[in-house]
Amino acid sequence: MVHRPQGVKAKRLLLIGGGKAQSFGSYELRKLAGAAVRFLKPRSIRALSFVAPPLPPGAADAVKAVVEGAMVGDFDSDVYKTDRKDQRLDELTVVAGGNGGGAQQELEQALEAGRIIGESQNFTRGLINEPSNRLTPTVLGDRARQMAEEVGLQCEVYGPEKLHELKMGAFLSVARGSDEPPRLIVLRYEPEGAADQPVIGLVGKGITFDTGGISIKPSEGMEKMKYDMAGGANMLGAMRAIALLKPKVKVVAVVCATENMPSGKAQKPGDIQIAMSGKAIEVINTDAEGRLVLADGLHYARQRGATCLIDAATLTGAVVVALGHVNVGIFANDDAMYRQFAQAEQRAGEKMWRMPLDAEYFEQIRSHIADIMNTGGRWGGAVTAAMFLKEFVDKTPWIHLDIAGTAWIDDNKPWIAKGPSGVTVRTIIEFIRDVAAKGRVGDGLGGA
Ligand code: BES
Ligand code: MN
Ligand code: ZN
Repeated sequence: MVHRPQGVKAKRLLLIGGGKAQSFGSYELRKLAGAAVRFLKPRSIRALSFVAPPLPPGAADAVKAVVEGAMVGDFDSDVYKTDRKDQRLDELTVVAGGNGGGAQQELEQALEAGRIIGESQNFTRGLINEPSNRLTPTVLGDRARQMAEEVGLQCEVYGPEKLHELKMGAFLSVARGSDEPPRLIVLRYEPEGAADQPVIGLVGKGITFDTGGISIKPSEGMEKMKYDMAGGANMLGAMRAIALLKPKVKVVAVVCATENMPSGKAQKPGDIQIAMSGKAIEVINTDAEGRLVLADGLHYARQRGATCLIDAATLTGAVVVALGHVNVGIFANDDAMYRQFAQAEQRAGEKMWRMPLDAEYFEQIRSHIADIMNTGGRWGGAVTAAMFLKEFVDKTPWIHLDIAGTAWIDDNKPWIAKGPSGVTVRTIIEFIRDVAAKGRVGDGLGGA
């Protein structure tokens, strides 16, 4: 940081290295903006002007990336520190337009979009950050309803009676061990003038705490299982942004919220559960609960009109073994939808890596006593979990995001705080905006 730089009106000038020029893009620009904010906050500097370097796609993209990156850098997870100094940013000015410039109005729209998207990602991170005693399924339902009222979404929150009525045997089997009642959260966005189809269905795993149930987890690291509702929180954040950005396409979101607890009422290994779709599931391991709640969530989203599906879940430890903490595991049963989603991922600056869904893997989850088992043995655990979900989406174009390794950041980074990442929120928003702009799901190049 240069103090009183010559020839510049500003009192202080912060210079940040952006790495190699050839590989510099909006992904790096987001990080720079986040790093600037995180450098300045502890120095009690709450206002800054960011001069964005020219980027190939254009000034509007640069502005959006700067605002998103700055908002992401502005989030801290230390909300329960009694001496917390909440040093949030007050003012951000973005200076951009070097490369051919851009109309002021276009830049302002990009800034506003970046603000909505960044705020929504932080809304998601705030939910994930909450411990399970303060964010029960009931509280998550209340928070969803409150957000829906604020931004103008239709919201329904259901309890166990409705789940019985819908015959959600898989979802209910996980909830039975807990004293906290489950919640089925449904948010709908149906803008005027939108076509009847497509309807994008978003389904989120909302396990507010995962003990493993009777197949209980070891105590070491179990405290982190408060973030097992990250997938659900991602969908709520994405819906918040959609309501404010107003793309012309219908979206329905379903979050299956419950605890996974051991108790005298809890389900046991070997139990058979009948999912809403009618499929019979042999529960081998009660800790493979995410796929059980999602089985009913995915089926229900289709029943509510979804013509394509995206789910996000902290589903498997195996995806962490495969991809570490860098890439989200992405699975797709439709190449055209995958390619469109991968483009959205580039624009959003989030990292994902495609994983396979070959039919051979199904043999690992074929049950002798029922249709399907909820675990597939040691090998390829992220894939067999996805194969399980695939049984409940049928032929609907579908994308599954396994965020177990990426939803939580273990160490502080210059551009983002330790704690919940909110990753996949931005990509889902970009994807929905693209579907609205093009009026179709898929990149139009064909192929299944
Ligand atoms: N919520 C966990 C997955 C997880 C692991 C999330 C690590 C975040 C970090 C999930 O419910 C789970 O327990 N999965 C089991 C499945 C197994 C029993 C087949 C796992 O991955 O061990
Ligand atoms: Mn589990
Ligand atoms: Zn879980």
